[in-house]
Amino acid sequence: MQAPNHVAIIMDGNGRWAKSKGFPRTVGHAKGAQNLEDMLYIADELGIKYLTVYAFSTENWKRSEDEVMALMNLFRQYLRNGFKKAARNNVRIRVIGYRPGLPQDLQELADEIEEFSKDNTGLQFTIALNYGSRDELIRMMQSAAREVAAGNLKPEEIDEEYVSSHLDTKDLPDPDLLIRTSGEQRVSNYLLWQLAYTEFYYTDVHWPVFGKAELQKAIEWYNTRDRRYGNAK
Ligand code: FPP
Repeated sequence: MQAPNHVAIIMDGNGRWAKSKGFPRTVGHAKGAQNLEDMLYIADELGIKYLTVYAFSTENWKRSEDEVMALMNLFRQYLRNGFKKAARNNVRIRVIGYRPGLPQDLQELADEIEEFSKDNTGLQFTIALNYGSRDELIRMMQSAAREVAAGNLKPEEIDEEYVSSHLDTKDLPDPDLLIRTSGEQRVSNYLLWQLAYTEFYYTDVHWPVFGKAELQKAIEWYNTRDRRYGNAK
């Protein structure tokens, strides 16, 4: 079984999992964070090179103040613990999304962990935090327009290569497989440009309980696909 090089995940269903157990939503997020931790090692073990997860979207600010605060605290804790774990497991951590929109200390933590782990050659792990694909594309377009206006760039130089190398994901190959847990079949403003040729896998399993067997099932399904486009095997 060949593992996809780059797997992107929409970790959905923390809230529904918590509700089904009679817990508050924030317990679902904490359990989801724990599961993500486990998933890093599982992905690495299964031969996945790049893992990119949707942790907080530009739309998620509309959730209740309490929930947003609980999520930000979870990200803080996760990134702080990430230094030791990245060092121990040779994991490189990147954070994509509109960083200036995050609390100052989270911006600093993201800068620091990227710098700290930049030479690690194991799993290439990317967290999308305050990420929205339309926002990412607009930022790229505005910056290209500024370059054109300044006379540093010709409009015809804006091609696929230019766009791909000016998005937040400029250092990552396009995903081969997108997994969305918990039953929804939407792309929810995630990696719109990058997913052009990606295979989509959906499952009803909620993120907090999406384990190794589930990831293996997704990879098996991926192996049945006839990959003629994009990063074809
Ligand atoms: C979707 O579940 C999940 C999120 C909005 C947040 C994802 C965050 C985590 C998995 C926490 C860990 C991440 C890091 C990087 C520490 P939902 O709340 O939309 O669930 P629902 O659709 O069932 O309500």
